[in-house]
Amino acid sequence: MVAWLAAGAIMVAVYVLIYYNFIKGVQCKSDTSLRGKTVIVTGANTGLGKETALDMARRGARVILACRCKQRAESAVFDIRKKSGNNKVIFMQLDLASLKSVRAFAENFLKSEPQLHILINNAGIGGSNNKTADGFNMVWGVNHLGHFLLTQLLLDRLKQCAPSRIVVLASKAYRIGKIDFNDLDPPHNGIIQGFQNYSFSKLCNILFARELANCLEGTNITCYSVHPGCVNTEVFRDLKFWQKVLFVPIIALFFQTPADGAQTSIYCAVQEDIEKFSGRYFADCKVQEVLPHARDDAVARKLWEISERMANLGSH
Ligand SMILES: NC(=O)c1ccc[n+]([C@@H]2O[C@H](COP(=O)([O-])OP(=O)(O)OC[C@H]3O[C@@H](n4cnc5c(N)ncnc54)[C@H](OP(=O)(O)O)[C@@H]3O)[C@@H](O)[C@H]2O)c1
Repeated sequence: MVAWLAAGAIMVAVYVLIYYNFIKGVQCKSDTSLRGKTVIVTGANTGLGKETALDMARRGARVILACRCKQRAESAVFDIRKKSGNNKVIFMQLDLASLKSVRAFAENFLKSEPQLHILINNAGIGGSNNKTADGFNMVWGVNHLGHFLLTQLLLDRLKQCAPSRIVVLASKAYRIGKIDFNDLDPPHNGIIQGFQNYSFSKLCNILFARELANCLEGTNITCYSVHPGCVNTEVFRDLKFWQKVLFVPIIALFFQTPADGAQTSIYCAVQEDIEKFSGRYFADCKVQEVLPHARDDAVARKLWEISERMANLGSH
């Protein structure tokens, strides 16, 4: 009995050591106040977006939760107001899987909110076989194209409120991402193709932030792409039952909490003196070098032009 208790205590101690040294990750130490600033966080009703929005609210910002589901978003508004003591937290409807909804959100926001200082393009999906309302690959449509259009429609307001920032949630999965401009809807059946499809969309996030920084030079708007870490959120909600049985215990033990995973997004939104890194990719609250295919400016430019066409935008 004593031996079992001792073994259990050793296992817990080893886990705590592993957790604090290798899993928890770096915390954003900036105490920047956001009083008088307005922040949009997309997909802020759960996971990383909700924790990021909570942090922005605690810093005193007016926070817009840009979410697709009214009920889930209103419950998040309630929680965030209660935890932060900040009542300037509101919901606005946004479905990134519909370009019409993105345009309606932007119109509504620009009419009702005079300021925008920080845009956090956080919403994302891990996998789907469906198409967006406009007939695009769902993962690419939500993770990249919807945010591409949203950002373009809000740029003038960000310019008026500069210095301002844009944070784009990407992922280390970009490393296996490939872009074939002749096939923006690659097959995505099964776990491997599904992950490749997700990785392709996350590569697009990094290339978008890179090209956006080029376009924004001299405007006092900066942008950053982020890998949050491996985080225990609802992003795994679409796993099949057997996959959940296999992965959920691993995810629960070895992935970060959403509050820890949100630290690099928060860092890129508020940390002083990172403007010189505009367009770069951050992980663990540090700028990181990406693989060559994610810093190919010709591909980034082409992706921009194709995205403009698909979103029915004129050239910049
Ligand atoms: N978790 C990780 O380990 C990890 C790792 C690398 C990168 N990331 C990235 O981090 C970001 C946040 O993910 P998460 O882990 O926090 O996932 P999550 O818990 O599943 O949250 C995703 C959020 O996006 C929203 N969303 C999905 N489709 C949308 C749409 N069509 N329109 C508007 N909102 C939509 C969801 O809304 P509903 O609740 O209504 O569905 C939810 O609020 C994503 O971009 C993800 O790719 C996550």
